[in-house]
Amino acid sequence: MEIVNPVMWSLHVGFAVLWTGSVLFVALAVLPPALRGDVDGGVLEGIVGRLRWITRVGALVFLASGGHMAGTLYTFESLTGTGRGHLVLTMIALWFLITGLVEVGSGKLTDGLDAGKLREPARDAKPFLYGAAGLSVVLVGTAGLLATPGIM
Ligand code: HEM
Repeated sequence: MEIVNPVMWSLHVGFAVLWTGSVLFVALAVLPPALRGDVDGGVLEGIVGRLRWITRVGALVFLASGGHMAGTLYTFESLTGTGRGHLVLTMIALWFLITGLVEVGSGKLTDGLDAGKLREPARDAKPFLYGAAGLSVVLVGTAGLLATPGIM
C-alpha cells in the first residue's frame, strides 16, 4: 500500500512533463517548418503519430493517477468548495480541452498528409495545436499553484 501513492504521483508528474512538453515542442519546433513546407511528410506523420500516442496513453494515466490522487486528498465537498479543489477541477477541464484540440489538430494533419499534402494540413492544424500549446501553459501554471507549499 505504501508504494501506491509514490507510483501514482510519479506517473502523474512524469506524464505531465512528457505530455505538455510534447504539445509545446510540436507547436513551437515542428509546426513552423511544416507551415513553410520544410519538413518531410513521412517524418512529420511519425512525429504527429507519436504525439497522439502520448496523448492517448496520457489520458489513461491522468485519469487513473489523478483519480487516485483526488480520492486520496479530496471529498466531493472539498473538491467543489475549496480553492485547491477548484484548481483540480480547472486542471481536469484543461486536460480535457487540450486533449480534444490535439486530437482534432493531429487528425487534420494526418488526413492531409495521407492525401499527399503538407502545407495546407499544417495550416488547418495550426489553430488547434497553437490553442493546445497556449492552454498547456495555463495548465502548467495551474499545476504549479497546486504544487506550491502553503499557497491555499
Ligand atoms: C484527469 C485529469 C487529471 C486529474 C483528475 C488530476 C488530478 C490531480 C490531483 C487530485 C492533484 C493533487 C492536488 C493537490 O495536491 O491538492 C494533482 C496534482 C498535479 N497534477 Fe493533475 N490531474 C489531472 C491532469 C493533469 C495534467 C494533464 C497535468 C499536466 C500538467 C497534471 C499535473 C499535475 C501536477 C504537476 C500536480 C502537482 C503534484 C504535486 O505536487 O502534488 N495533472 N492532479
